[in-house]
Amino acid sequence: MKGKVEKVKRAVKLAPSILAADFARLGEQVAEAERAGAYRIHVDVMDGHFVPNISLGAPIVKSLRQVTRLPIETHLMIFNPDLFFDEFVEAGSDSFLVHWEGNNNLHRTIQRVKSLGKRIGVVINPATPASVLAEILPDLDQVLVMTVNPGFGHQHFIHSTLPKIRRVREMIERVRPECELELDGGIDADTARLGVAAGADVLVAGTSIFGDPDGVDAAMKRLRAATETATKVKKGSLCA
Ligand code: DX5
Ligand code: ZN
Repeated sequence: MKGKVEKVKRAVKLAPSILAADFARLGEQVAEAERAGAYRIHVDVMDGHFVPNISLGAPIVKSLRQVTRLPIETHLMIFNPDLFFDEFVEAGSDSFLVHWEGNNNLHRTIQRVKSLGKRIGVVINPATPASVLAEILPDLDQVLVMTVNPGFGHQHFIHSTLPKIRRVREMIERVRPECELELDGGIDADTARLGVAAGADVLVAGTSIFGDPDGVDAAMKRLRAATETATKVKKGSLCA
């Protein structure tokens, strides 16, 4: 019961994903997100092998480092992430999200990031069970549950991930309450509400923030308002 009450009090945090930004005015878009209260900036790195798409690299992080004071989190959808940590740290990355999938030496990868003094999170894809986190959770600052298959923005939220999000939340409360639970993919006002009700405390959102015709500020307000509703529902259910 105590854990549930604490969960209600935790305010949701937004991590705008620049994958959906207008790259011709990236600095401006990130500044808008910062003014609108973004928690950190999410940068998606894809190598065309781990996922069927290519995207951004360390030069983008270096440029962003000049225009924002927000932490920059780097989501590495690449094979052999260990080869790139130094480059991204030098560019200005504050944290790394590495996938459980395809990493035969995840513990080593995590220790390497810690030795660089950066925050570390592990990402699990929609088909990957929560149970793979059991042994590694005590070492983590973040867990990211993919709510779409990684590789592209603007996809539909996969609802079958919701029971897993609840399971990860329970594991975190039991083992490492300070670890953040983050969701990535298909987050809009409706799915944000579901994700927060399931236990998420950080939401990555690209299209619903940078693609909103009303602008970044209005989009982030809408997402926050939706998650406040989720919190109220939870409060109601606790009182019942
Ligand atoms: C997908 C990326 C996401 C993506 C989310 O592989 O990891 O961060 O930018 O985009 P939306 O919010 O459009 O689903
Ligand atoms: Zn991402």
